[in-house]
Amino acid sequence: MKVFTTVKEIRKHYKNCVLRSPGFVPTMGALHEGHISLVEAAVGSCRMVAVSIFVNPTQFNDPEDLKKYPRTIEADLDMLSLVLRENDFVFTPSVEEVYPEPDTRVFDFGQLDKVMEGVHRPGHFNGVAQVVSRLFDIIRPSAAFFGQKDFQQLTIIREMARLSYPKIEIISCPIVREKDGLAMSSRNRLLLPEHRERAGEIFKTLLAAAAMVFDTEPDDIREFVADRINMSPGFNLEYFEIVEDITLTPAKSRSEMSSDKTYYGCIALFAGEVRLIDNTDIRLR
Ligand code: PAF
Repeated sequence: MKVFTTVKEIRKHYKNCVLRSPGFVPTMGALHEGHISLVEAAVGSCRMVAVSIFVNPTQFNDPEDLKKYPRTIEADLDMLSLVLRENDFVFTPSVEEVYPEPDTRVFDFGQLDKVMEGVHRPGHFNGVAQVVSRLFDIIRPSAAFFGQKDFQQLTIIREMARLSYPKIEIISCPIVREKDGLAMSSRNRLLLPEHRERAGEIFKTLLAAAAMVFDTEPDDIREFVADRINMSPGFNLEYFEIVEDITLTPAKSRSEMSSDKTYYGCIALFAGEVRLIDNTDIRLR
């Protein structure tokens, strides 16, 4: 695999290759098996693959969170070298390379960013859209791979691609979980041992909540989730929401939920200082 830090190097690489539209896996580094599953999916279906490692400052609404975000570039490159092939490349740009000028674009995603993460992390999805569109312009991929753990991000990127990058295929890959069900995340390594020990409870709670939709109103399910999460010392629920696939409209009552639709139960919580998210699909059939 090659490692590039500048756009110029990528352009030169493309000049030397027959293939110029790689499968693309954007990441913020601190790679884990979840990321590697995205890279493997890309390697399995694309003749050239690009992986970016860039901690994007514009998507952090909290400067402390940006400061604490894990950075493990050497270990990341070691992991990628086991999966990537000779002409595949990793792009590890500086902030100036991605944003030669401050990015002042404001994206409009309608209702999609007015719920869940959009409410609790103001500006977050605008920053994600800025960096993903910058990276799409730099890499010019034929397909881009995203994890379903960031379910709302995936929906918003699909919408951005539909509007502005119709030739890029957006491919979603399943959540990879630890043995106890905890969704893999770069942030897991920041968890205190006593929180990590109990973090399997998050997915168990999601599954229990999903099973309740047949006979329980969404508000009561939310209360159940809040009680069960907050019961665990140091855990604090931020939100639990049942939303419709694609539109992300929150389900308000059982009577308006339809067995023809797919819903997602989405959760965000703090385990101590660490913010975690997860989701599971919910079907009424
Ligand atoms: O999901 C992530 O890691 C980031 O939001 C992404 C898509 C790499 C943009 O910085």
